[in-house]
Amino acid sequence: MCGIIGYTGTENAVPIIVDGLKRLEYRGYDSAGVAVMNEDGFEVVKQKGCLSALEAMISIKPIAGFMGIGHTRWATHGEPSDVNSHPHLGSQNKIAVVHNGIIENYRQIKERLEQKGIRFVSQTDSEVIAQLAEYYHDGDIVDTMIRTANALEGSYALGIMCLDEPDKLVAIKKDNPLIVGVSEHGNFIASDVPAVLAHTNRVCYLNDREIAVLTKNSVEFFNMDGEPIYKEPETVTWSIDSAEKGGYEHFMLKEIMEQPRVLKETIQSVLGDGDNRRIIDSLDVSRFDRIVITACGSAYNAGMVAKYVFERLCRVTVEVELASEFRYKDPIVGQSTLVILVSQSGETADTIAAMREAKRKGAATVSVVNVIGSTIARETDYTLYTMAGPEIAVATTKAFSAQLVLLYLLAVSFAKKLGKISKETEDRLLSDIASLPGKAAGLLKRIDPVAKYAAGCVGCKSIFFIGRNIDYAIALEGSLKLKEISYIHSEAYAGGELKHGTISLIEDNTLVVAISCCERLYEKIYSNVEQVISRGARVLFIGNCIKAEPGEQLETIELPEINELFAPSLSVICLQLFSYYVAANKGLDIDKPRNLAKSVTVE
Ligand code: M6R
Repeated sequence: MCGIIGYTGTENAVPIIVDGLKRLEYRGYDSAGVAVMNEDGFEVVKQKGCLSALEAMISIKPIAGFMGIGHTRWATHGEPSDVNSHPHLGSQNKIAVVHNGIIENYRQIKERLEQKGIRFVSQTDSEVIAQLAEYYHDGDIVDTMIRTANALEGSYALGIMCLDEPDKLVAIKKDNPLIVGVSEHGNFIASDVPAVLAHTNRVCYLNDREIAVLTKNSVEFFNMDGEPIYKEPETVTWSIDSAEKGGYEHFMLKEIMEQPRVLKETIQSVLGDGDNRRIIDSLDVSRFDRIVITACGSAYNAGMVAKYVFERLCRVTVEVELASEFRYKDPIVGQSTLVILVSQSGETADTIAAMREAKRKGAATVSVVNVIGSTIARETDYTLYTMAGPEIAVATTKAFSAQLVLLYLLAVSFAKKLGKISKETEDRLLSDIASLPGKAAGLLKRIDPVAKYAAGCVGCKSIFFIGRNIDYAIALEGSLKLKEISYIHSEAYAGGELKHGTISLIEDNTLVVAISCCERLYEKIYSNVEQVISRGARVLFIGNCIKAEPGEQLETIELPEINELFAPSLSVICLQLFSYYVAANKGLDIDKPRNLAKSVTVE
């Protein structure tokens, strides 16, 4: 939930770390801090608030050094404050630590150390790591890391500097991501690849409980027995441009605009000759009698859409489960179940736990993941990568779209393998999917009506999203997007459910966004639209089969024609833009909505 970075090399670490933190700020932005080591020992600047507050502080109190660590925080233990910000130092100022994760037994460790006379200054769980490492340090930092890690329960990605071993930057992880970047001028640790992309695209992925020891010109890895292990750096294809705003006011808008390319590349990754194609071809689907899709947030919504596609095309039962529920429900899965994990980051704690539970029960696991080398990508039996590139805005857009299209393609492949569709139908479906990038591009050329309508919605207290069947599934995503970035209360309902209670919430001027891309259900959703209009609602009607004329209470937005199973890829673009422009007109911090972080690596 936090972002960490570290550097040791021939350049001043401070600007490198601050720049890296900017690219990790999506992981948390309650406070930030940097520590460097130089001939005077540690110099630390840490500050409550966004990174800009830290930058302002550094400009008043400059620090410099060739080795340093930095942190951007999403608070879990202890309020966002200067003292609770990372890096944390041991009480003898010999060890400095940045931590992403949660130490579950921190109270016990703290009590034990306090009994030995060690004084704590913060309310965080993370400070115990610095104090414990300092307490254990016996002149050998690898040994210290092993002893410290063995005492910790919970999750951690750690960057550590030790004054007694001033040439070494040390890192270890468990259940939280950490990469090591290797460059000409020095070496890095970071929570995520974009943090180091300005310097290198050569990275090693740390596995749980592996230790990295970096000097300015070497990187070594050790296991928990202190034995050396070998890792070859991998070359990442993501470019630094994809992690820049590229002239857009917000990453979210840039990422919305990137969707035609992302759709095209993701489709190509399956229809062309790539790893995704090879993996999908290798799946023996006849052994499964049930599919369970499990994920969180938007990735769960992608699963909801996929359920309609799989069930319609493959005639197989698909259940979609929230990963946070699945992990604790003693799920009924086994060798004949295929569990599909969907995750942009590949690091969502609940989805990781769901994956491990499914594997423990013998189910086969397939992941749809965006971040290469992430925990879910590494641990599932089959990994399919979405081609979204780095997604920086907390609200997902392009990664969601890539998940949808990959799931459609998986469903078509399964249907064909199961003999549920003919070659002719397969070709037609694939051609419909292949038409999506062009149709999405066309839609993105005419965003003015959505932007204009959204501008008139900033005063709404509550907005409802309705649809039927697959349009309902995408309504869930429209509603989540709006809540997340505009802070307007919103709910999504299946149109037919309105009369069972929700309609009592409709009053004069309530805004209802209705989606209609299932022509066979047009009359049904239109009757819901009429029901809410007659109770005073305003309706924004989005779809490709709308016959109603716009009126005083009704605005329509026409979408390109497409097979209803794939229409969510177009309607969602409209919904994303609607949320974006509502939030933009409210002047909100769209890329970093309050209380949220992009990767939810804690429970
Ligand atoms: O990285 P993941 O896809 O596993 O993340 C899951 C959710 O946390 C994520 O989709 C969240 O709901 C987004 N911020 C929504 O825009």
